[in-house]
Amino acid sequence: MAFHGYAAAPTIAALFCFLYFFHRRLCCRHPLLTDYPILGMLPQLLFNLWRAHDFFTEILKRHGPTGEFTGPWFTSMDYLVTCDPINVHHMLSKNFHNYVKGPEFRHIFQAFGDGIFTADFEAWKYNRDLFHSLFKQKSFEVFLVKTIHNKVHNGLLPILDHVQQQGRVVDLQDVFNRFTFDNICSIVLGNDPNCLSIDFSEVAIEKAFNEAEESIFYRHVVPRCVWKIQRWLQIGQEKKMTEACKTLDQFIHARIASKREELSKYNENEMGEAHHVDLLTALMREGKAHDDKFLRDAVFNLFVAGRDTITSALTWFFWLVATNPSVEAKILEEMKEKLGTKEKSLGVLSVEEVKRLVYLHGAICEALRLFPPIPFERKQAISSDMLPSGHRVNSGTMILFSLYAMGRFEETWGKDCFEFKPERWISEKGGIVYVPSYKFIAFNAGPRTCLGKDSSFIQMKMVATAILHKYRVQVVEGFVATPSLSIVLLMKDGLKVQITKREL
Ligand code: HEM
Repeated sequence: MAFHGYAAAPTIAALFCFLYFFHRRLCCRHPLLTDYPILGMLPQLLFNLWRAHDFFTEILKRHGPTGEFTGPWFTSMDYLVTCDPINVHHMLSKNFHNYVKGPEFRHIFQAFGDGIFTADFEAWKYNRDLFHSLFKQKSFEVFLVKTIHNKVHNGLLPILDHVQQQGRVVDLQDVFNRFTFDNICSIVLGNDPNCLSIDFSEVAIEKAFNEAEESIFYRHVVPRCVWKIQRWLQIGQEKKMTEACKTLDQFIHARIASKREELSKYNENEMGEAHHVDLLTALMREGKAHDDKFLRDAVFNLFVAGRDTITSALTWFFWLVATNPSVEAKILEEMKEKLGTKEKSLGVLSVEEVKRLVYLHGAICEALRLFPPIPFERKQAISSDMLPSGHRVNSGTMILFSLYAMGRFEETWGKDCFEFKPERWISEKGGIVYVPSYKFIAFNAGPRTCLGKDSSFIQMKMVATAILHKYRVQVVEGFVATPSLSIVLLMKDGLKVQITKREL
């Protein structure tokens, strides 16, 4: 009897697998790739992981802009993937309330805590209103511009001058990383750690941020049970994640403690000029008393929002401009024409001056279209729904939309969608062509649109004009720009360039 029982077990298992296989075949009506037994479509993704964004762009072009990706059996790796602007518009705006970040997202992005990026419903609304009210204050805007202006003038330009004099190759992405890190520390914490210095020493916090972000990307491409076991055993990418989070938490909590101590010495009216505008101070002085956990999560989220995104955008912009000399010439021509920069030394431009540079604005939009700093986003459906493309969504379905593929979607951008052409942004009247945010998606769309969009353009234009006016940036021969595997689209090996002084 017992023997018969043992013999029957494999048969039952085989039958179960067979039925499950056909059940998946029936459910997955728009497969993006071949759905292999047990492993699903994962092997093809892993094989192409080093070029994941281009891989999805190609597949969505071949298959049609919306389709299903199924992971290994019994894992939570099944996604509906889309780059169709109409579907994205539906999820981000028209039926916004049905598409949330969801518990799975919070699990994967656990390092973000309960901050604005991971929050839904009331918690998100509270964070959003709070940040919005802080960002829109005139005093904050003035403080932000002054901080960036000073850092470009006293940090970025002197460093590039030093590098230029030495004639050595420099990693421009590393320079931008340090620049944005100093800025975000000044803006959020009210103190500048001066990471942008000529010795280019390693900055533990910066490294920790990068490692946490890479680990989050990794959690998207391996089954949950695998990264959970790795976390339990503290090995591989998960070990890095734990260590990175520890470093980051120590850093942020120490700043919160010292800020509390600093503030306890003053009452509000006694606060000096320098104290009342950084975001941590503003959060601590808010009517509602925020605990340390809330402040830690707010600081972490603001760091990711304002640091890597700008670094990524500047790095790809400079690579595109350096490899497209005609665009570089047109940017310089516009500066000469509109600001008379031929004769005089430029320094750092004011907000009013950078706003007049339309071609430069187009070139930055074009860089963000081709290389959106946040290359993909994910949503989870609360109840079942039908997307405008006709694809059915069930309650709990996870949807990935590729901002990277959307920037290269032929139906939106035309046959030349892979070319870097700032001209596509310039209207006949010489203004900027309006493209709805659900098509030009780099800053997200709908109620969760990026809160730092306007200030990002100002910051990027200040940096771009200050550098391009003074220096020629040349990418070293043989350098290949490869996207990193992270939730922010950085360059895997940095951007290796040579800087020379431009003749005025
Ligand atoms: C080139 C620069 C930037 C780009 C491309 C960018 C892009 C984005 C994107 C795609 C999102 C949506 C993310 C998601 O929901 O998963 C977002 C949200 C956000 N961004 Fe930015 N961002 C940039 C700079 C900034 C800066 C400098 C700040 C301010 C410090 C900022 C603050 C925020 C905030 C607070 C949110 C959350 C909005 C919400 O969920 O309601 N961003 N950004």
